[in-house]
Parts: sequence; C-alpha cells; structure tokens
Amino acid sequence: MAEEGKRRRTALVTGSSRGIGRAVALALAREEGMDVAVHYRRNRDAADAVCREIQALGRKSVAFQADLEHPEDRARLFEGVAGAFGGLDIFVANAAATAFKPLEALTPYHFQRTFDVVVSSFLDAVQRCRALMAGRIGRIVAVSSMGSGYPLPQYAALGVSKAALESLVRYVAAEYGPAGITCNAVMPGVIHTDSLEFYARQSTGDFVRSVVQHTPIGRLGSAEDIAEAVRWLASTAAGFVTGQILVVDGGLSLSAPGYTEAGR
Ligand SMILES: NC(=O)c1ccc[n+]([C@@H]2O[C@H](COP(=O)([O-])OP(=O)(O)OC[C@H]3O[C@@H](n4cnc5c(N)ncnc54)[C@H](OP(=O)(O)O)[C@@H]3O)[C@@H](O)[C@H]2O)c1
Repeated sequence: MAEEGKRRRTALVTGSSRGIGRAVALALAREEGMDVAVHYRRNRDAADAVCREIQALGRKSVAFQADLEHPEDRARLFEGVAGAFGGLDIFVANAAATAFKPLEALTPYHFQRTFDVVVSSFLDAVQRCRALMAGRIGRIVAVSSMGSGYPLPQYAALGVSKAALESLVRYVAAEYGPAGITCNAVMPGVIHTDSLEFYARQSTGDFVRSVVQHTPIGRLGSAEDIAEAVRWLASTAAGFVTGQILVVDGGLSLSAPGYTEAGR
C-alpha cells in the first residue's frame, strides 16, 4: 500500500470497464493503493461502476472514453489522463478487439482494425507514456494471448497482432530501460470473461471442458488470476524484470498432444 504522505501512484488500464481490465484496475487500487484511470469504448455505465468501486476504496478514479482504433481518440485519452492525474506511473494495455474468422474469410479491413487496436495503439501509448512517466518508476504491462505463438481456430488476426505486440514489448523494454521504465507482457491462457463466450459461441461448454481437461491446474483462469500477475509486474518489486512475456495459463500450454489421454 502507498504510504500516507507519499504521492500515490497513478495507473491507466485500457478496457477496464469489464473482464480482465476491470480486475486489474480493482487490484491496483485495492492491493497497491493506486489512483486509477478507467478506460472504456462503449460501456459508460460499466466504467462508471468500476470507478465507484475504486473511489469507495478511498482512491481517485475517473472514466475516459476512447476507441483505440482511432489516433485522435488515443490523443484525447492521454490528454485527459494527464489533465486529471498530472502524470502516469503504470500503463496497462489490455483492450483488444477483433473479428474471429478463418483465414479465407479475413479481409484486409479486419486485419488492419485488429492491428490498429492492439499494436498501433500500443506504440502510440508508449510514446505518450515516456513523457507522462518522466521522473517516476514507470511500468508498462501489455496483455497478450497464447494465440501469439499457438494457432487457435479463427484467431489469426488477433494472434498475429499479439505476436507483434510481444515483439514491441521487447523493443520498448530495450529503449525505455535507461529512462527507468520497464515493459513486460502477460500471456493469459483461457480466461472466463465475456469474450470467451463470444469466441466459443454455441460450443462454449465443449470448449471449456476440453480446455479444463488439458490444463494441469484443472480449471479455467479467472480475471483475478491475470490481475495478480499484472499487479506484480506493475509493482516496485518487479524492477529488474523487463522485456518478458509471463505465461499465466494454469499449464495449458505445457502438454504435447495426447499427454492427458496417455496419462490416464
Ligand atoms: N478472455 C480470455 O480468455 C483471454 C485470453 C487471452 C488473452 N486475452 C486478452 O485479455 C484482454 C482482455 O480480454 P477480456 O476477455 O477481458 O475482454 P472483454 O471482456 O471482451 O473486454 C474488452 C475490453 O476492451 C474494450 N474494447 C474493446 N474494443 C475496444 C476498442 N476498439 N477501443 C477501446 N477499447 C476497446 C472494451 O470496452 P467496452 O466494453 O466499453 O466496449 C472492454 O473494456 C484482451 O487483450 C484479450 O485479447 C483474453
């Protein structure tokens, strides 16, 4: 917790109106005592509810709308955060959006939109963070996906964008380290959020059963599982960790095909 009398640290978490981003925003406020800028695209009511939860903890929280696909929205978001909080200690790039489609159905339009929300907006954000984090112990954490390294059905646009995101994380770590800023990513496995239902559609039950069967820890991940990993990477304790991709998947990505069946 931040000590009384010390300046409280400020975090911006993109896509924190729900899901993983919401859990991250709440964990940073509750466990680390941070003030939190909550960002959303459409769901103002949900974002306001997260702000109220943070304010009830005695921390400052303000909601900002921005569609991260659009550079002018990104500029407005960071100008709003600078105006309301004066600077930034933590930036968590969590928001993502894509079209889940097989390769044949993917158009350049789908591909570009996903890339803009996930990759171009991250570059824009870290460039802005450089100034906002000046003189602070800066922490940048991106939320990636196992689709960056493992082909998943209908996931190419997002998987390729997340692979580029992870590469960019390493470049930011190398270039911003001398400015006292670390940059890392977490790679979630399958996490129980709205987007899981959206991804798996009618076959959610079968998908979840299969994932759980192949996960050594024996369950789906929760938004809080990911929030705890992000919280650690954003903490002062993680100051010598940079340019890393932390896998938080209950061991899902460990097993070779057939392992669970042969082990019975
Ligand atoms: N859930 C999983 O199993 C899983 C697995 C691996 C990785 N991840 C990654 O974890 C992150 C969060 O996932 P989630 O499942 O928590 O997602 P979610 O529940 O679908 O939430 C997505 C968030 O992103 C915001 N958002 C969507 N499109 C946006 C855009 N164009 N501009 C700005 N904000 C936008 C949404 O805001 P509004 O609600 O206001 O529209 C919402 O706050 C994503 O990066 C995702 O790829 C998730």
